[in-house]
Amino acid sequence: MKKNSMLRVEGISVSYGPVRAVDNVSIEVNEGEIVVLIGANGAGKTTLLRAILGVDKAQSGKVLFLGNDITGKSTDRVAKSGLGLIPEGHLVFSTMTVLENLQLGGYHNPREIDSNLESVFESFPVLRNRLDQTAGTLSGGEQQMLSIARALMSRPKLIMADEPSLGLAPKVVSEIFDILRDLNKKGYTILLAEQNAKKALEFGNRGYVMETGRVVLEGPTQELMSNPEVRHAYLGSNV
Ligand SMILES: Nc1ncnc2c1ncn2[C@@H]1O[C@H](COP(=O)(O)OP(=O)(O)OP(=O)(O)O)[C@@H](O)[C@H]1O
Ligand SMILES: [Mg+2]
Repeated sequence: MKKNSMLRVEGISVSYGPVRAVDNVSIEVNEGEIVVLIGANGAGKTTLLRAILGVDKAQSGKVLFLGNDITGKSTDRVAKSGLGLIPEGHLVFSTMTVLENLQLGGYHNPREIDSNLESVFESFPVLRNRLDQTAGTLSGGEQQMLSIARALMSRPKLIMADEPSLGLAPKVVSEIFDILRDLNKKGYTILLAEQNAKKALEFGNRGYVMETGRVVLEGPTQELMSNPEVRHAYLGSNV
């Protein structure tokens, strides 16, 4: 079966002053895949996702999404074309209600808000009962679910999730991964940035390992999991 390329990043570099946070990175995500981006603190994962979305400007390189060159396009336009970001730190608008957060996520398609809400509640039944609750009073896990749900309200074709498991209890982490797996089965393509290498490699089909702004290894997650360098540096193995 021929794989359809959905996202293609070619030689992207991003600097913050003297710091080169992303250095000549190329990655590809094909339709239907779960691709994981692993790497330690400061490896450049968030910067790469932000550069793909156009929040951070790339100094060089190209981003192609669904065959279109989206390099340097406004974030709003990129989001509208089908790229959704679940930002780091389960960001929600904490003084707004759950419903208002979801409505904001769907503002590109005002006419479809009601039907999109219904499909989001299928994945997150807990949110249906919390519509009037202020988002800031949700538990950490519930806020992460709201953050994912809000991204889904724009009906993205590709979901980029930035460390959705950060700071959550193991049981909640498993729930979040189950939800993401379920979304992938429903047809969503996923690009996941994650420090939790073990979870990420168990979850993804293919992966990229980032170190100080560069991709140093890539391949099917099965291969990465048995790679001695990955085992030593990221999986806590002495073998
Ligand atoms: N706004 C900024 N200004 C200056 N430097 C920045 C900025 N954002 C990120 N950096 C630097 O860029 C590098 C990459 O950071 P980034 O947040 O992309 O890493 P990360 O892989 O997402 O790390 P983590 O797993 O901790 O989230 C780091 O050295 C960081 O200090
Ligand atoms: Mg990050």
